[in-house]
Order: sequence, then C-alpha cells, then structure tokens
Amino acid sequence: MMDDQFEGEVCNIGVERKLTEPCSIVIFGASGDLTARKLIPAFYHLCKDKLMPPDFRVIGFARRDKTDESWRAELREALNQFSRTKPVDEKIWQAFEKNIFYCVGDLNDAAAYQKLEQKLNSFKSAPLRKNLLFYLATQPSQFGVAVEQLHNAKLLHRESGEHGWQRIVIEKPFGHDLASAHALNAELTRFAHEQQVCRIDHYLGKETVQNILMFRFSNSIFEKLWNRNSVDHVQITVSEKLGVGERGGYYEEAGAIRDMVQNHMLQVLALIAMEPPVSLEAEAVRDEKVKLLKSIRQLSPDEVAKQVVRGQYFAGAIDGQPRPGYRQEPKVKPDSNVETYVALKLFIDNWRWSDVPFYLRTGKNLPMSASEVRIQFCPTPSVLFAAQCGNKLDANALTLRLQPNEGISLRFNGKVPGMSLGVRPVRMYFSYDSEFGAYTPEAYERLLLEAIAGDATLFIRRDEVETAWQIVDSIRKGWENKPLTNREFYAAGTWGPIAADDLLAQSGHVWHEPQVIK
Ligand code: BG6
Repeated sequence: MMDDQFEGEVCNIGVERKLTEPCSIVIFGASGDLTARKLIPAFYHLCKDKLMPPDFRVIGFARRDKTDESWRAELREALNQFSRTKPVDEKIWQAFEKNIFYCVGDLNDAAAYQKLEQKLNSFKSAPLRKNLLFYLATQPSQFGVAVEQLHNAKLLHRESGEHGWQRIVIEKPFGHDLASAHALNAELTRFAHEQQVCRIDHYLGKETVQNILMFRFSNSIFEKLWNRNSVDHVQITVSEKLGVGERGGYYEEAGAIRDMVQNHMLQVLALIAMEPPVSLEAEAVRDEKVKLLKSIRQLSPDEVAKQVVRGQYFAGAIDGQPRPGYRQEPKVKPDSNVETYVALKLFIDNWRWSDVPFYLRTGKNLPMSASEVRIQFCPTPSVLFAAQCGNKLDANALTLRLQPNEGISLRFNGKVPGMSLGVRPVRMYFSYDSEFGAYTPEAYERLLLEAIAGDATLFIRRDEVETAWQIVDSIRKGWENKPLTNREFYAAGTWGPIAADDLLAQSGHVWHEPQVIK
C-alpha cells in the first residue's frame, strides 16, 4: 500500500459534450447473438450508470415470431450469462425492460417497415418517434436494402431539424476488399450522409486504445521522442489464445489479415503514429488517421514476399489442452490456405517516421492473449556501458499494454546494488487497476453512447476504411496463387511460424513476447 499515493487533478475535457437526447434504437437482426451478448448488456449498464438519455426505447426487429414479453424474458435470461456485473440488479432491469419492444418483420418487406413505423408512432413523445438509431446487426449484404427501405418508409432522412436525427450503426466486415467496400459505402450513403453512418471498430471503444492519444499528446516527455530520431522500431502484437473454433465458415473468407489487420491493428497503428490533430473534434482526429494510413508504403508483390509472413496453426496444445489444427476445425477446407497468423513489416513514408520499421503481428492459438504496443528506442552510442556490455545492454522500451492487465511500462537500465558495477534492465509500471481501481466498461457501452450522442470520433470514416483496404489488397495480391509453404505453419501454442522471426532478424531485431504481468 502506497501512502504517498499521488492524486492529480482531473482535467475533464468531456464535460462540454453534447447531452444525449431522447431517442429510439432499432436493432435489425435482433434475434442474433450480438444483441443478447453485447448490445443489451451494454444498454443495461448504461442504464445502471445513468448514462442513457432521459427517455429512450429499444426495438428489436427480426423475422422470428416473438412478443415484447417473450423477447424481454429471453434477454433477461441472457443477461444473467453475459452481464459484466453480477448479479443483475432487478430494479434497474425492470425499469429498463419497460423500454424494450419487439417488431416481427422481414428486412426485405416494405410492409414490415410500416409496422415499425406504427410501433414508433405509438410512442407519445416526438423525439422518440424521430430521433432514431438504426443498428444493423445483420449480414452486410442486407445493409443496402435496409437503408433503402428505411428511406422509402420515410424513417431515414438526410436532413435533420424537423425530422429529428437518424443514424446508422454497422460493424465489420466493411466489405472484403477495396472494390466491395467502395460499393458498400456507396449503398450506405445513397440515402444518408456519411456523417450519419457510424462504423464500429470495437477496439476504438477500449479504454486503453483511447488512452493512446491522451498519453501521446498530454505528455511532453514522450512526444519529443516519438520520431525517427529516437525510435528504433515499433512492435504491435495482438495475440490470441483462442483458435477459430466455431467461426470457421467466416474465417475461411476473412483470414487474419481481413479479420484483424484491416481494422483493429491498422487503427492502433494510426493512433500510435499519427500527427497531433488540430483539435479533438471527430473530423480533425480522423483526418490525421487517414493521413497516416495514406503514408504507409504500399507493398509490391515482391516486397510482400519479403515483408509479410503468413502462418496457419496445426495441432498442438495450450496450457496442456490439445488443440486441433486449423484444417481440422469445423467448416474449414481440409486443404485451406487461409492464414491464422500474419506478421508484417511496414514503413511510414513521412517526415516523422521515415525508415522506422513498424512490425505488426496477430494470430490465433498463440501461447497468450495479449495486445500491446512496444516502442523500442534506439540503443545508446557504443561507448561507456554499451561498449562493454554490447547487446546485453538493453535499449529502452515503452510498452502500452492494451489488454489484459492494462497498463504502461517503461524499461530502462539501472545499477545492480552492490560493490560490482552491474547494469540491468528495470521497469517502471503504471497499472490501470492499481491507479484507478477496476473500471472495465465494455467497448460497446461507450460506442453505443457515442452513437446516441452523435460524436463520430470513435467511428471509422469512409476514407479510413478504403485506405486500409488498399493496404490489405496490396498484401493479398502478393499472396495470390501462392499456397502456404512448410515454413509458414506453426503448432498451436507457439508464437507463430519461424519465418516471422526471420522477418525481424533481417534487420537485427527480435520479437518481444508480451510480458506476463502479475
Ligand atoms: C474481432 C475478430 O473483431 O476481434 C475476432 O473478428 C477477434 O477474431 C476479436 O477474436 C478480438 O477482440 P478482443 O476485444 O477480444 O481483442
């Protein structure tokens, strides 16, 4: 227990935020998993934390025949399982469930939207009928039709004002390549402005991911070092212990590069490397992210062969538990070439980062679940200690642990106490839990709240999605007609294929495994 615990003053830059207005949230595809697992628990916690608008309704829209009562009962049961706080507070739930309704309907059927309109019209207060958040928890192929039908039913307007406001929330995949993303974006914006579209990347709702900008731009000591003069290279690792499990069908179409790199990892990279925005306004932040993504050097097929490593797991074990190989997972082709691991070396062609390698890696069935960013600083000149210790003298590193054990650690060298002159790395560590206590809202809570408040900072803009696809498309082009080679397989429970180590060894670097923090 530290008795000199430091408690600085909180500078709250969020107080000026728009208050949330009364609104109705319509979830399309409401009988799917996402609603019960994530959305309803998120709304329940927002109610619990008194963050929902003063008045609101949630309407589930789906084909399965249900009544308001039967849906509420189903959700209540699911909440027992999926709520992050337990037991469920019955008083909060009872107040919340009165605002939950169900509307049976087929997305393609114009009559279903009339029924939805009737339901909305049954609400007495005008904002509940006009301020509408449409959450499309459906297949992406249905986004276009839903938006068109909403427009035809006069439930979705481009203009706000007398019509209230309407917004559309969607989740990845935003297409499967640049061309399809382009087509999807065109469909979405046929009847809505880009500003009305909230594209969710749940990584942006994570506390630690949001902290990247705070950390970088509210501290002068790090920002001065945040460039090619001081940084040797950067490693971004998102490792997962889980295999593909039941998601083989989806994963066969996606692979690690579309599933993780196109969105979460490039978003983290953009936040780590972007220039300071002119303000904290959504467009200013997103402009800088796009600028950064556009500065990533595109890879030719030859460069892909040298700078990108794919991997696929074969059978192995994690924590003593056997894991099947990817090709043995349900709904996976027995000769599949889909990557469950990818490691890449990227360069950012701008003034700040020229020639600094950014290494990204992600994979399934790795030994540990951990997401972190390691800023590896340049070594000291080869005089004094470095001259004597050579490689044994660690270069400084700053690690932003995004999850779990959220925190930030700084590695530097210190004298080992004693008569001899020994130097060894030591660590300064900030842990969210010990500093702020366990505060762990789900990413969805924040994202839903921001969508209701109409703050677009945490949502992905159209040009971000498309620029990210350009990067991914150029990599996938380099893989065309190239089956995986033996060097690209790894046993479940290991840190990926050997080729990934060689990728760094070319430049005298090594992967740093995420730290086991206790
Ligand atoms: C999802 C991917 O977007 O992110 C999953 O589709 C992955 O494959 C998940 O497991 C990781 O999210 P988190 O929050 O667990 O790091």
